Amino acid sequence: MAFTIAIDGPAAAGKGTISRAVAAHYGFAHLDTGLLYRAVGARMLDGMDPVEAAETLRAEDLDETTLRTPDVAQAASKVAAIGAVRAALVDFQRAFARRAGGAVLDGRDIGTVICPEAEAKLFVTASAEVRAERRFRELTGNGVDTDFAAVLADVKERDARDMGRADAPLRPAEDAVEIDTSDMAIDAAVAAAIAAVDAALEESQT
Ligand code: CDP
Repeated sequence: MAFTIAIDGPAAAGKGTISRAVAAHYGFAHLDTGLLYRAVGARMLDGMDPVEAAETLRAEDLDETTLRTPDVAQAASKVAAIGAVRAALVDFQRAFARRAGGAVLDGRDIGTVICPEAEAKLFVTASAEVRAERRFRELTGNGVDTDFAAVLADVKERDARDMGRADAPLRPAEDAVEIDTSDMAIDAAVAAAIAAVDAALEESQT
């Protein structure tokens, strides 16, 4: 059975944690599509043309440990505004989405552009301050030297670029269930996501 769960939302909204928990709950495969753009951004910072980087992306370029830095996040959001970069990554994401056994994809345009036919769509948000606070704790926990003001500025700058771009701008799909996690602990957010997916699963079986 192919069943696609699309999870979109702005920077550091908790998509990653929710997506991993939802995938584990249903036994589905998970693709963090942000890593694709981060890997292209990292290769651009190394001097490669971003379109060439996207067209030649390999599995070994997706090493999470080197891609979760603020510099790479900014580079990712810049290359993500280039239409030819996005186009080069479409087929891989769509094939992943329709794999047998079910798939969870998280990103910015999964419910709107990559998988408009996804059986379940979630849009996960939180206030910019809450998101920056979470990302600040995550980065300092990983030993990255930064301060809260810089993280908040980064989150806001990327949101503006991601929402303002012409190609696949960040926005909720019309039929997405919105989950605002500003005042939710992570287990409550995961429970809300699972409840929404359960409802979609039930609907798909009728
Ligand atoms: O983890 P965080 O939410 O901070 O970012 P991410 O999901 O790793 O995505 C990094 C950047 O990639 C975003 O700021 C977007 O510009 C871009 N992206 C995108 O354009 N489309 C996607 N489906 C996923 C990420």
